[in-house]
Amino acid sequence: MAPIAIDTQSQAEPDIAALKAKLAEVKVGLNLPPDNTLRRYQKAGIDLSQGYPYFPPKPEFVQEVSKIRDNLREYKDPALRADPEKKALLSAAKEVRNLGTHIGTEIIGLQLKDLTDKQKDELALLVAERSVVFFRDQDVSPQYQQELGLYLGDGEIERHPQAAQVPGLGGGITLIWEAGRNDKAAVFKSRSHRVPYGGGQFGWHTDLVHEHYPPGYTHLHQDTVPEVGGDTLWASGAAAYDKLSPKFKKLLDGLNGIYRSAHKYKDENNPEGDAKFVETVHPLIRTHPVTGWKILWINRAMTVAIEGFDRPESDALLEYLYGVYERSTDIQVRWHWTPGTSAIWDNRSTIHTVSYDYEGERHGTRVSSLAEKPYFDPKSKSRAEALNLRQWLNTPDVPRY
Ligand SMILES: [Fe+2]
Repeated sequence: MAPIAIDTQSQAEPDIAALKAKLAEVKVGLNLPPDNTLRRYQKAGIDLSQGYPYFPPKPEFVQEVSKIRDNLREYKDPALRADPEKKALLSAAKEVRNLGTHIGTEIIGLQLKDLTDKQKDELALLVAERSVVFFRDQDVSPQYQQELGLYLGDGEIERHPQAAQVPGLGGGITLIWEAGRNDKAAVFKSRSHRVPYGGGQFGWHTDLVHEHYPPGYTHLHQDTVPEVGGDTLWASGAAAYDKLSPKFKKLLDGLNGIYRSAHKYKDENNPEGDAKFVETVHPLIRTHPVTGWKILWINRAMTVAIEGFDRPESDALLEYLYGVYERSTDIQVRWHWTPGTSAIWDNRSTIHTVSYDYEGERHGTRVSSLAEKPYFDPKSKSRAEALNLRQWLNTPDVPRY
């Protein structure tokens, strides 16, 4: 079927009522996104007549999912090509504002869709260094988001086997939209204000850590947001690592963790049994290929255990580390969204969470660029060592109370 579109004359201010009426003629009971999203989709020529969101055919067994992208991959991070001073990017901006000392930068006066390849490389470097970079008032189509994601991912983006997606673009553009989830019941249970830290994948987490090549640069464009609440928070894993004592760092360096998926799948060896998570082993402290910094790479939602430790030891260590990471406000940034804001973060060096203090709709599209297989280089430095942050390096041991 041809895409449902209204005349191009109205693209500046699409007639949403006319579009809804046309879609209703095609299919009764279509699940439509919020009006702001419809305007964006209309401008981008996204066809919703086959239903919204799009769900890919779901793999049935955990074994099938484990094999996705099991092949070796050489990832060339675009930031490695960048001018260390990032002149092309920073000089083109009207203003560049750091939001905290250790994390978060907002760029004002640039449109992502107008960036040259040189500026994209420099943006990747800025994200690697600052963990998350924000751009308000962006004119970003899902197609451009996919194109930028493929550039930053050296040709590969996450094509999720279960999550809700933008239709018609070949996959890879997932939705942040509760009304479109196929696991709404579980979502609303986890969202209870009685669950501290959110809970499950809805509290502090890192995306898709069970992948063999988990995402690096991750781009969320929020086209519909509540006026109040619904903020997203990020924390720096490089700075969290530097909050540990030298002896504790030594204990953790070189250890592996077990990381699991957010979704469950059946076991082909026991198809009648309970569904299982995908589990993958990665370094607990990973080295960033661009900055060279050591990163505490754990998250409460999807790190299961530290390999080789007894369960109580692993639980106690992880609980302490989660506390350092989640409760240290000096290594975090909290962002209040306005419609049309893009955030690009480095999923290799951060945890993030949403604040569930909102009502109304919150709709965004996300593209996750796949990165390298996580590794630990024993010769790598911590962020404080590499940047020679004197007050972080010369801190006396915290006294016992
Ligand atoms: Fe997430």
